[in-house]
Amino acid sequence: MHVTVCDNYDEMSAAALREFTNGISEARVLGLATGSTPLLLYSMLAGEYKKGRLSLADKITFNLDEYYPASRSDTDSYWRYMQDNVFSRLDIRAQNINFPEASLSEEDAVTSYAKAYARSGPVDIQLLGIGCNGHIAFNEPGSQTDSCIRIVRLARDTMERNSTQRDRAITMGIKEIMDSRKIILLASGKEKAHALAYAIKGPVSSALPASFLRRHGNAFVFADASAATLL
Ligand code: GLP
Repeated sequence: MHVTVCDNYDEMSAAALREFTNGISEARVLGLATGSTPLLLYSMLAGEYKKGRLSLADKITFNLDEYYPASRSDTDSYWRYMQDNVFSRLDIRAQNINFPEASLSEEDAVTSYAKAYARSGPVDIQLLGIGCNGHIAFNEPGSQTDSCIRIVRLARDTMERNSTQRDRAITMGIKEIMDSRKIILLASGKEKAHALAYAIKGPVSSALPASFLRRHGNAFVFADASAATLL
């Protein structure tokens, strides 16, 4: 795992963006994350597009997760977040966007996303955040390395941290995440310090799913100084 500690959030976002765009011309499939952490990276990416320095018109995208059930018109849905922060600001083509259909039945939601992934995956460059309990996507503590796209129950602290009453989600599994060719994890803020230290220095264990990334040969971590206090 390559770990880069940056002085602050802005520098972390810029450094992660450099890694994300490094080799992007050869990438076919991009894996996108939600959450507050990648917001500046997405703005910077949109800035590059606006200046004509970058195009994602030939890329296929997958998102990591969505609350379940959720409709695309729900203001707290990850679909809304992606529309507002990413899809409306870049030239990703609508037909190239793969996103969980969280308004379908559990079985159909899982099957349709798994089928899309089987057709177009794996991901070449995967962006990731980290939960305060070490979750990646919505793979909560206890998630196993062979877990695939599925519906999960959210941990109580995840619901509190995300200020949501929603208690389930559809998520990519650890397996699909680990099958990505390159992984870029961003961690910002002191509330992530414990999870990040454990992921980097603790035992590799399902008790903290982000620790599995240590078994990935091409994973990059970008942390700001507050998230890195316990490293
Ligand atoms: C959420 C999402 C994750 C995200 C993480 C961190 O629950 N499911 O994909 O990476 O928690 O979010 P944030 O960046 O807002 O701290």
